[in-house]
Amino acid sequence: MAAGPYVIDELLSAKTIAARVEALAHEITDHFGDTDKLVVVGLLRGSFIFIADLVRELHLPVEVDFIETSSYGNSTESSREVRILKDLRGEIEGRDVLVVEDIVDTGHTLAHVLHLLEGRKPARLKCCALLDKPSRREVDVQADWVGFEIPDKFVVGYGIDYAQRNRNLPYIGAVRFTH
Ligand code: IMP
Ligand code: MG
Repeated sequence: MAAGPYVIDELLSAKTIAARVEALAHEITDHFGDTDKLVVVGLLRGSFIFIADLVRELHLPVEVDFIETSSYGNSTESSREVRILKDLRGEIEGRDVLVVEDIVDTGHTLAHVLHLLEGRKPARLKCCALLDKPSRREVDVQADWVGFEIPDKFVVGYGIDYAQRNRNLPYIGAVRFTH
C-alpha cells in the first residue's frame, strides 16, 4: 500500500453496522439454539469491536476466547504463511465454536485457523466474518455468515486498522490517498 496523506470515505455507517450485527446475531442464535455453550473465538486484533457487539446480541451461553495470527506475504501471493502468535486459552474438543473474523480477504488466515481448530475436534465449527472481499480470494474458503460483501478497497474503522491507526472509528471507511 502507498504511504502518504489520505482521507477516509465512509462505506458503512455505525447504524448500518449495528443493524447488520444484530441480524447476524439472531441467525447465529437460531443456528446454535440447542448449544450448552458456544465458544466464540475472536481473531485479534481486527475483530475486537465486532466480537464485543456480536456477543452482546447472542442469546446463548457463551465463552469468549481469542487467537492472534500474523501473516507474512512475500511477493508471490500463493506462498503466504500464517503464524499463530497467541493461541486459545481454552480447550475446544467437543465444543461448539464460532470463529469471528473482521475481513476475509485472500482467505489464507481463515483457512489456516479453521484447519487448525478443526484438528482439535470441535463438535461444530462455524465462522462469521463482518466483511468479505470475494474478488481478492486466493484460497477456497467461505465464512458461514458474512456481514457485508465489499469491493477491493482497503478499509479501516470498527476495529480495523491501517498501520495500527483508525481502529477506533465507529464506522467503516475506505482509505483514499490524496497524493
Ligand atoms: P487474508 O488472510 O488475506 O484473508 O487476510 C485477512 C486479514 O488481513 C484480515 O483479518 C485483516 O486483518 C487484514 N486485512 C485484509 N483486508 C484489509 C483491509 O482492507 N483493511 C485492513 N486490514 C485488512
Ligand atoms: Mg485480521
